[in-house]
Amino acid sequence: MFLLKKSWILLTNRQKKYAIFIFALMFFAMIFETLSIGMMIPLLSIFLRGELESSIFSYFFIFGKFEGKNLIYFGLSITLFAFVAKNFFLTFNLWHQNKFLQNANFEFTNRLFKYYLKKDYIFFIQKNSAHLYRNLTAIISSYVGYISKYIILLSEIIIFTGIIVILLHVDPLGTSIILFFTASIVSLIYIFTKKKITSLGEERNVVGGELNKHLLQGMASAKDIKILDREEDLIYQVENNLFKITRVNFIIEFIRGVPKFAFELLLVLSFTSFVLLMLYLKREMVDIILYLAIFAVASFRIVPSASKILASAQQIKYLEPSIKILLQEFDLKDSSYLQNNHQKKDICLPLKFNKEINLNNLSFSYPTRKEFSLSKISMNIKKGDFVGIIGKTGSGKSTLVNLLIGLLKPLEGKVEVDELNINKNLVEWHKKIGYVPQSVYLTDDTIRKNIAFGLLEDNIDENLIKQAVEKACLNDFLDSLPDGLETTVGEKGIKLSGGQQQRIGIARALYRDPEILILDEATSSLDQKTERKIMESVQFLKGKKTLIIITHRTSTIENCDKIYCIDSGKIIKQGLPKEILDNN
Ligand SMILES: Nc1ncnc2c1ncn2[C@@H]1O[C@H](COP(=O)(O)OP(=O)(O)OP(=O)(O)O)[C@@H](O)[C@H]1O
Ligand SMILES: [Mg+2]
Repeated sequence: MFLLKKSWILLTNRQKKYAIFIFALMFFAMIFETLSIGMMIPLLSIFLRGELESSIFSYFFIFGKFEGKNLIYFGLSITLFAFVAKNFFLTFNLWHQNKFLQNANFEFTNRLFKYYLKKDYIFFIQKNSAHLYRNLTAIISSYVGYISKYIILLSEIIIFTGIIVILLHVDPLGTSIILFFTASIVSLIYIFTKKKITSLGEERNVVGGELNKHLLQGMASAKDIKILDREEDLIYQVENNLFKITRVNFIIEFIRGVPKFAFELLLVLSFTSFVLLMLYLKREMVDIILYLAIFAVASFRIVPSASKILASAQQIKYLEPSIKILLQEFDLKDSSYLQNNHQKKDICLPLKFNKEINLNNLSFSYPTRKEFSLSKISMNIKKGDFVGIIGKTGSGKSTLVNLLIGLLKPLEGKVEVDELNINKNLVEWHKKIGYVPQSVYLTDDTIRKNIAFGLLEDNIDENLIKQAVEKACLNDFLDSLPDGLETTVGEKGIKLSGGQQQRIGIARALYRDPEILILDEATSSLDQKTERKIMESVQFLKGKKTLIIITHRTSTIENCDKIYCIDSGKIIKQGLPKEILDNN
């Protein structure tokens, strides 16, 4: 119930209203369903006895005095009406229920995806993409399933209660027998399977996440797997998880299937006891047949109804662990999860870069690390400066750049641009930056689309592409390709050489014609000649653009204005290239 309440909060107001509307439709359909079964009682009584049984439904027949055949016609028309009304509501409801559920699926996947994408970069460092993918697919489906099972559970409880009330009126004894058997079976099965089902639900999520991870890894790291001859190990891991998930599915399907048999047994059992009871009480044969017919009709609805109640209650238990995961994903304190157009609510101040960038006493440590990856870093970069950053591997250069860009938030200290903290307007800050990371991520698309990364076709500017291609020294390479810019690069750029991939990364950064260009080992895979060419075109920007270049090759930064040398997260040296590089 606690979970239900929390999941309810996740729905938007529109969805809540829609859910209530669907429930109301369901309620009416169920009333007619109950009525239509109730109609059977007077109708059968007319057939068997030619007169009306005195029941709550008899008042349907008191309008006008019907006798003989007319009574039958009248009874039939009312029954027909109840069934037509019921099925009309059910059809109407089917439409809306499906619309609601499919829409919820669409809306939630969309919302969660947006929610994830707007999270800080640190979130992605900590999460595994296979698990995020599982949340966006399987977990969302579970959530939608969870809501639909609750709708079914509630409506079945209504119909179950409705039929039982009618039957209690007709025959308290027989109904009590049926009620007793049904209630005991439902609660016994539920109580005995509850724990197992929840643990199966938990296992499914854990194993499902791991399975995704191994499947994706297997496909993504084919080269390493082949060279290291780890196919068998990976196959074993996948097989292991597959086996576990198969076992979960197998048991859950079995648990779901068994109640059907139990209920069928129940049906026969209660009929037998009922008939024996009637015979023992020496009731008239007509009476017995009438009651039996009524019970037959009712049981055909009571038993499926009870079985649906049990099945949905079990399914709800099975899905609960997934709902917990989803609720953990959406931080309930942050109400932005409710908005479809999730926007960070930071106050945005106008951000200009006319003078300088200041790093003041920056310290940072990764959540999983004890030691500081950067400590007390201060830098002053003037507009138009060409800054080089060097240092041993693992010294903290990339981390520093991530802080400068605002991808990571410092634990202490701040990054200021013309005296304004970049966090006051990160969006504006990012617009000024062209960044080529250490490893460029290429999408399985054309070179052109990779340069204009993420832009919609209509928004791509061919002129900017041309300029970027030129500056990144891609012309010769493109000329050698039959399809030129339209050549596809393969997944993660697998059809290209490392240097070609890097140059596309550089072109991507230059496409925006950024005020600040940051290259993190962006030319490491290039030969000296190509690198020099690129550096020439980059240095052509010197004075106009601000350049920050991380490199292990000192030749790359011979011409820069200032070099910072980093070691173990601290600046150990800074100065002109001459002073630093000669010592090195
Ligand atoms: N996501 C992360 N989680 C935990 N620690 C990290 C993470 N990324 C980097 N580190 C650690 O932070 C330190 C600095 O890493 P960083 O990537 O900044 O080094 P670098 O100077 O860029 O090295 P390289 O020259 O090899 O690229 C390293 O000790 C590294 O292990
Ligand atoms: Mg690095």
